[in-house]
Amino acid sequence: MGFLAFLAARRNRAHCTPWHPWGHMLLWTALLFLAPVAGKPGKCSPTSPLSPSHPLSLLPAPSDLPKAVVSIQPAWINVLREDHVTLMCQGTSFYEGNLTMWFHNGSSIHTQNQPSYSFQAGSNDSGSYRCQREQTSLSDPVHLDVISDWLLLQTPSLVFQEGEPIVLRCHSWRNHPLNKITFYQDGKSKTFSYLRSNFSIPRANFSHSGKYHCTAFIGKTPHSSQPVNITVQGGDEGPAIPLIFSPWHQITFCLVMGLLFTVDTGLYFSVQRDLQSSMGDRRNYKV
Ligand SMILES: *[C@@H]1O[C@H](CO)[C@@H](O)[C@H](O)[C@H]1NC(C)=O
Ligand SMILES: *[C@@H]1O[C@H](CO)[C@@H](O)[C@H](O)[C@H]1NC(C)=O
Ligand SMILES: *[C@@H]1O[C@H](CO)[C@@H](O)[C@H](O)[C@H]1NC(C)=O
Ligand SMILES: *[C@@H]1O[C@H](CO)[C@@H](O)[C@H](O)[C@H]1NC(C)=O
Ligand SMILES: *[C@@H]1O[C@H](CO)[C@@H](O)[C@H](O)[C@H]1NC(C)=O
Ligand SMILES: *[C@@H]1O[C@H](CO)[C@@H](O)[C@H](O)[C@H]1NC(C)=O
Repeated sequence: MGFLAFLAARRNRAHCTPWHPWGHMLLWTALLFLAPVAGKPGKCSPTSPLSPSHPLSLLPAPSDLPKAVVSIQPAWINVLREDHVTLMCQGTSFYEGNLTMWFHNGSSIHTQNQPSYSFQAGSNDSGSYRCQREQTSLSDPVHLDVISDWLLLQTPSLVFQEGEPIVLRCHSWRNHPLNKITFYQDGKSKTFSYLRSNFSIPRANFSHSGKYHCTAFIGKTPHSSQPVNITVQGGDEGPAIPLIFSPWHQITFCLVMGLLFTVDTGLYFSVQRDLQSSMGDRRNYKV
């Protein structure tokens, strides 16, 4: 861990080069102030708290390139066969290069090397997509579902955070005109409209979790979509905070640091006093 490494480095250094006493104390003080900052989960990558990007080693290592991000346009993660889909690989904004690698179900798509990848969906196009650009690391996977059906309830995500808006769409194969559209949650009808094919929830809460489907007429024929499970999660229920960043560990860390600082400063002054008195002794001896 960074802290132990730091102590070890400090001990090694103490053997060969003299430390300026003020530098010493400033460092301990800086550590005391840094500790709470380091504890904020937002300040560090939650997936790799002990990687070289640990906040105590303030410079990022070369392996810590930002992750690319795959986005789907239009934003639906489920589409019908023959729908047009564009996948975008977003990298760092300050880098203009276009060279991109695309992966489908883990295999490289050799024909695709641009940040934007468009296709007409076929059933083989289901699965996970990842991308990587020159100045990024590999993106997280994004799952696309290609369905063969007349009607599909489309969603931009299967999981939403509490308070987020949700927009669902009742979508027909080849965009055949729809009428008499009904949205259902867990089998109960939520809205009915002659022509509107979107269903919006401005602020999601737990009561909006459930199985959604829609029914509609294409011409005079009624159709029904397959259900889609939607989950609404608590707003504060983010990624698990690693143990070392819990408040108790922060408090313990600060206490230990404070103790070390006190002991260190005490030692420094006592050594200085000893040195001064021994120098005084020597002076007395010389005289
Ligand atoms: C990079 O992509 C953008 C948009 O896709 C395009 O306008 C631009 O010409 C491309 N640049 C190169 C060097 O290929
Ligand atoms: C889908 O993939 C299978 C094997 O992976 C292949 O035999 C089939 O021709 C593909 N179908 C289409 C429509 O590309
Ligand atoms: C990718 O995986 C999905 C299922 O996870 C499958 O339906 C699809 O056919 C696969 N496509 C290819 C090209 O491997
Ligand atoms: C339905 O929702 C999509 C996605 O939010 C939006 O682009 C579209 O304009 C909406 N259509 C209507 C008729 O509200
Ligand atoms: C959830 O939101 C609906 C409105 O969409 C509201 O009627 C309901 O009271 C809310 N439930 C909770 C538990 O906040
Ligand atoms: C949807 O949720 C139900 C329980 O609410 C579960 O039994 C079912 O397997 C889920 N379906 C999918 C496709 O995840």
